Amino acid sequence: TPRPLDAAAVLAWYDRHARMLPWRVPPRARAGGERPDPYRVWLSEVMLQQTTVAAVGKYFARFTQLWPTVAELAAAPLDAVLVEWAGLGYYARARNLHACARAVVERHGGVFPDTAEDLLTLPGIGPYTAAAIAAICHDERAAVLDGNVERVLARYHALSVPVREAKEDLRSELARSVPARAGDFAQALMDLGATICAPRSALCMLCPLEPGCAGARTGNPLAFPVKAAK
Ligand code: ADE
Repeated sequence: TPRPLDAAAVLAWYDRHARMLPWRVPPRARAGGERPDPYRVWLSEVMLQQTTVAAVGKYFARFTQLWPTVAELAAAPLDAVLVEWAGLGYYARARNLHACARAVVERHGGVFPDTAEDLLTLPGIGPYTAAAIAAICHDERAAVLDGNVERVLARYHALSVPVREAKEDLRSELARSVPARAGDFAQALMDLGATICAPRSALCMLCPLEPGCAGARTGNPLAFPVKAAK
């Protein structure tokens, strides 16, 4: 049974409880027309693919201090980028990061493309990152589904099968719920997954999705997502 998410409740929660992260524009400034910088959003998303928000902080600060724009990152020697990446792991990601910066400069004049579809053509940008950048920077109504959001949705729907067997269903269900404030909505679900609907604790009494949540109704939301049988 499809249960649309209460996007208005999620956004109201985000307006009060959004985490203040260095690549974000606070909801109030955003309402005033300020937009997040695609370069900073892209950089944060690539770093966050393998590392927690807490660990990314100092790397993000260092990179944006050394290379405030994508053109400056593109102009840096690859070795310098790899040196700064040390500790984040997965050096292929750093090589892709640099290749992507160069592609943005060479193919797009130093301006990140606006749509998820065009972002997907860049090195190292897959469906998740493309959707995240387009939603966060341009409010494209893309379904931004990372591991945290998968958990939130698996609980919300009391999903009886492992997430990997239902990814496309979760994605299309999520796509139907995305409101005009697509970027805030995407980041609200990430924050819910990180702070309220966490892997080993579910603070349902604080959750804006609780009224519609099938997982909470079962009395044991931590039973979701169900594990894949080995
Ligand atoms: N994890 C991945 N992207 C994120 C974002 N934009 N905000 C918070 N956590 C994230």
